[in-house]
Amino acid sequence: GLNQMPREEGLDHSVSLMREGYMYIPNRRRSFQSDIFETRLLGQKAICMGGKEAAELFYDNNKFKRSGAAPKRVRQTLFGEKGVQTLDGKAHFHRKEMFMSLMSEEGVQRFIEINRNEWEKAVESWLDKGEVVLYEEAKKILCKSACRWAGVPLSDEELGKRTDELSSLFESPATLGPKHWKGRNSRNQMEKQIGRLVEQVREGKLLPEEQSALHVISEHKDLEGRLLDSAVAAVEIINILRPIVAISIYINFTALALHQFPDQKEKLTSVDDEYVQMFIQEVRRFYPFFPFAAARVKEDFTWKDLTFEKETLTLLDLYGTNHDPELWENPDVFDPERFNGKTGDLKYSLIPQGGGDYNGGHRCPGEWITIEAMKVFVDFLINRISYEIPKQDLSYSLVSMPSIPNSEFKIESITWK
Ligand code: HEM
Repeated sequence: GLNQMPREEGLDHSVSLMREGYMYIPNRRRSFQSDIFETRLLGQKAICMGGKEAAELFYDNNKFKRSGAAPKRVRQTLFGEKGVQTLDGKAHFHRKEMFMSLMSEEGVQRFIEINRNEWEKAVESWLDKGEVVLYEEAKKILCKSACRWAGVPLSDEELGKRTDELSSLFESPATLGPKHWKGRNSRNQMEKQIGRLVEQVREGKLLPEEQSALHVISEHKDLEGRLLDSAVAAVEIINILRPIVAISIYINFTALALHQFPDQKEKLTSVDDEYVQMFIQEVRRFYPFFPFAAARVKEDFTWKDLTFEKETLTLLDLYGTNHDPELWENPDVFDPERFNGKTGDLKYSLIPQGGGDYNGGHRCPGEWITIEAMKVFVDFLINRISYEIPKQDLSYSLVSMPSIPNSEFKIESITWK
């Protein structure tokens, strides 16, 4: 007969998920001694799984689909409606190609230059300030960089509001009450404003650079040769702006890593670019960001004698896979050396931004920009500026999602080196 996957008894475990956060799936994988288990979340049956084999399965397009996977409260804030995250098959492939075309070597290089320039200007303005809250500053720097890179007009007066709106999208999806509503409002407002920009581009009244996201997305045609609905185009432009601002979370964790593991500073100054890359990979592996990705079973199938029923909500444990003792030696030790000479395949094991393929799957198209933005920041922090770290609470939670150091990382007495 068929095996059954371990099942968590009870009517619904959404509350446990909110209470245990990043550790909800890893805790149960450990207690069930199984990389896969069944539970109930958001009032429905759900499968949770983690590890390399589970990741390979999750990214098999014949077995899982994305339509109907993201819960409403996530679409109302983080994702928006009808964006690339919700598409499957040919429609997804075609839309994803549009995103990938923005991530060419030239495209990424253009981002690096803009981003470096924005850090330069920001640091200059910090010199006479006593204390700077890194998280807040990084969000503004990245918001400016994102808008410049994407060809979206942004005046100095709009910067604060726009930064706040974009941040509320990724700070709110797992919250209830006012914070959730703030995220929804921000999305509604921004979709309207950016939808109007798309129309202006189409009418020839606004002329962003040819290679910019605003231009490319405004002119993109679907498989039937039609322009995107301006609301959907706005969702996709926000799909570029929002996550670039979210890199501020990794900026915070990068600064925290240098503080928690001071020997890293010396290695980063004395060793080559290879080490910087290893260090950044370890920051992305070690610290929490996206807890899991969600899909639905496409058609009934069995895997290792386990039954997957059509439409079942399935979560892939991203954080837990990055900390899986089967895949990582001493997973809870911060050690960039683990990536030394590791040419082995990390496609389904280092998955902070999803796994599998970019074009054929849902893996994050922003991985290069994320890594390069972290490199720009490491260079500033290590080689370009001196700073002090005042006493503060630098602990971070493995419950609240996304997790950010409590103090948002304050630095002071900043000078150029
Ligand atoms: C998808 C994480 C930065 C654009 C994803 C996914 C994750 C992720 C976990 C979903 C994978 C899946 O569903 O299987 C992150 C993290 C980032 C980041 C932790 C660090 C800040 C970026 C950046 C961009 C971006 C900088 C764009 C400039 C996207 C898009 C998708 C996506 C458009 C949807 C892809 C698809 O459905 O095919 N990201 N991301 N992300 N990310 Fe990122």
